[in-house]
Amino acid sequence: MKALILSGGKGTRLRPLTYTGAKQLVPVANKPILWYGIEGIVAAGITDIGIVISPETGEEVKATTGNGDRFGAKITYILQDQPAGLAHAVKVARPFLGDSPFIMYLGDNLIEKDLTPFLDDFKSHHLDALILLRPVENPSAFGVATTDEKGRVLQLIEKPKDPPSNLALVGIYYFSSTIHEAIDRIKPSSRGELEITDAIQNLIDFKQDVESRIIDGWWLDTGKKDDLLGANQIILDTRLQSSVQGQVDDKSQIIGRVQIGEGTRIVNCSIRGPVIIGENCHLENCFVGPYSSIADRSTLIDVDIEHSVILQGAKLENIHQRIVDSLIGRRAHVLPAPKRPKAVRFMVGDDCQIELV
Ligand code: DAU
Repeated sequence: MKALILSGGKGTRLRPLTYTGAKQLVPVANKPILWYGIEGIVAAGITDIGIVISPETGEEVKATTGNGDRFGAKITYILQDQPAGLAHAVKVARPFLGDSPFIMYLGDNLIEKDLTPFLDDFKSHHLDALILLRPVENPSAFGVATTDEKGRVLQLIEKPKDPPSNLALVGIYYFSSTIHEAIDRIKPSSRGELEITDAIQNLIDFKQDVESRIIDGWWLDTGKKDDLLGANQIILDTRLQSSVQGQVDDKSQIIGRVQIGEGTRIVNCSIRGPVIIGENCHLENCFVGPYSSIADRSTLIDVDIEHSVILQGAKLENIHQRIVDSLIGRRAHVLPAPKRPKAVRFMVGDDCQIELV
């Protein structure tokens, strides 16, 4: 059994963060989203992992994630020269996959559940494909399935305007090598992509065994800001363990589960967990409230913040309003203002959102 993680694509929905970086590397609780997928796959006993990358962000994915040693796995990188669809990515990965069955995992998805029970089902029932489904309120944003009472899949449609059910396809699929024949039979969709939903539908049309399981527990597709903040909240809630490695002075107060990385200095701050602060940060005169993740090398001085994600090397100083529900990009500077500013001055990149509330 192998695994194929899709970490290419364009990532337009998290712009502007993903103009300069891969969306799969955006951190949740200071760890790239992609790494949660790798860890889940390794926990299911699969260590031969291919990662599909794009020309734009592939080098960054490679440099950050490495050859797999840190996960106890062997990672092979597979370049997809254009984001021509999920089934196209499988086609490009064919030399890596050979005739092996595999888990396909979309690199921006996170699920609470263990992958192993589904893997066991997939193997013991000798299925051609096993897909995971979850009821959602906005099925039009996903691939949508209809099934019979035994979980056999009847129909799949990609992002339908008029969804036939509320069961969305989670971005984790179990395939036997018959998927390659199905991919060879399908044509690009109206949006010009070779869709994996069409390939699975083709398996169904050819009377192959395609089953589904409905998952409970949380599932996060971290494509948008609020999804990412939600993912951050859930991971901090469920997986964060306290550990303080940096220096915390006597005037600071730490309450609840808080993780502070090496080389970080905390001066006169109040930190109320769950909160994670990376390495080599400097925080002075700050209140850091629950569900905040502050990445390595960030500086926060005279700042009051909660339920926010700050990426590496950001600098926030002297902000007199509480910062909430915010996502701040790498090396971004949010600079001091007088107590009652008469004017505000911005230098904001394309597609940013500023809300003065
Ligand atoms: O998240 C679940 C949804 O994922 C499913 O419900 C849909 O059926 C499925 O098509 C997919 O929809 P998205 O619109 O979320 O797909 P996205 O374009 O975001 O791509 C998913 C991942 O695959 C992402 O990590 C980028 C990567 N990718 C995407 C394309 C189109 C590639 O590596 N190559 C590609 O060509």
